[in-house]
Amino acid sequence: MTVQTTGKVVLGVTGGIAAYKACELSRFLTKWGHNVAVILTENAQEFVTPLTFSTLTNNDVITGMFDSITNTEHIDIAEEADLIVVAPATANVIGKVANGIADDMLTTVIMATKAPVIFCPAMNVNMYENPIVQGNIAKLKKHGCFFEEPAEGELACGVIGMGRMAEPAEILAAVNDIFAGDIINRGIKTDLEGLKVMVTAGPTREAIDTVRYITNFSTGKMGFAIARRAKARGADVLLITGPSSLIPPSGVETIRVISAADMKIVVNERFEEIDVVIKAAAVADVTPKNKSDHKLKKEECGDAIKLGRTDDILKGLGEIKGDKILVGFAAETRDLMENATRKLKDKNLDMIVINDVSSKNAGFGTDTNEVKIIDINGNVDSPPLMMKEGVAELILDKVRELWRAKCR
Ligand SMILES: Cc1cc2nc3c(=O)[nH]c(=O)nc-3n(C[C@H](O)[C@H](O)[C@H](O)COP(=O)(O)O)c2cc1C
Repeated sequence: MTVQTTGKVVLGVTGGIAAYKACELSRFLTKWGHNVAVILTENAQEFVTPLTFSTLTNNDVITGMFDSITNTEHIDIAEEADLIVVAPATANVIGKVANGIADDMLTTVIMATKAPVIFCPAMNVNMYENPIVQGNIAKLKKHGCFFEEPAEGELACGVIGMGRMAEPAEILAAVNDIFAGDIINRGIKTDLEGLKVMVTAGPTREAIDTVRYITNFSTGKMGFAIARRAKARGADVLLITGPSSLIPPSGVETIRVISAADMKIVVNERFEEIDVVIKAAAVADVTPKNKSDHKLKKEECGDAIKLGRTDDILKGLGEIKGDKILVGFAAETRDLMENATRKLKDKNLDMIVINDVSSKNAGFGTDTNEVKIIDINGNVDSPPLMMKEGVAELILDKVRELWRAKCR
């Protein structure tokens, strides 16, 4: 699968609360290399400003039907677009397009284009479940439009239910799938179907006493991206994550743990049922030997905290792995290749992904990553800096190859 094809993306933003998420989406699309033209509906401008989008995309933003310099700008945009994304898509815009209404710039461009259109609905659950809205969605799907389905969760109106817009990273992945020629399979992609994938993510927290702990800078972004993409490609995904503020991808079984010891217990309990383990978590290497059951006085802290090693979860799995595929991550700052190659052998892994955590725009907390991937056959891949979603796709492509080779 090609993950880096880019093109002209028209991002239509409509008048819903989730318009704020479209700002991040425009940034993601631009960072990926797409040329992004934003069209804001009149109502969207009640929520977000053109200035935000012009700054994030380095392009002018279109805000009205009749304020353009050429009379036929709507046709030019419609013809130049490689893809149109409507995010958020209100019930209103879905209804209008489904019924052939073109009464503003966005709906007119959609009507005039031959490019694929992805709608990313976001609305209150009652609106989303309204049979009229569902009928309009079904109609648009029948006409070949794509939908990045909303997730269940707490909505801006305070209600829990379906209607929360897909995360910007998921929408970016949908866009890239379409650029990669994966239009037919979009949404029902099956190349990992039948595979049970365990992904670990995030940091762990090692308690010193009842109020203090040791941790690291991991946020879980890489592991969550892998879980999301594995799910999108049809795998049955179990995500085991340390403390992270990220929202788990919908449809992924997620277990939250705190410490390295907790993570080990859950990973080992579920290992038997899994085909592929991808250990992207930054598990603490050390933990306080004696956790105090009360808050230590500050004078006590220096001498009281003695550190011991945590168990190496991945190494333990390597010893009992059988036919399973094991993928490890190495966060290194020095001698990347030597250290990672040694880990691959010592831990009996099938593949290791090396993060240079000292490099700019890669490693902990960033949206992008620059990795090297070494597999059991000695193949080394050095993809360029790319979004973590793209790195996730590459890792999963390699996992699929290794799995197929094992099944032969
Ligand atoms: C505070 C506020 C939040 C809204 N959020 C949504 C929403 O999330 N989804 C939706 O479909 N409509 C939402 N609406 C209603 C739309 O703004 C309204 O239907 C409007 O006509 C949409 O116009 P547009 O589709 O041209 O942008 C909201 C309205 C208000 C006042």
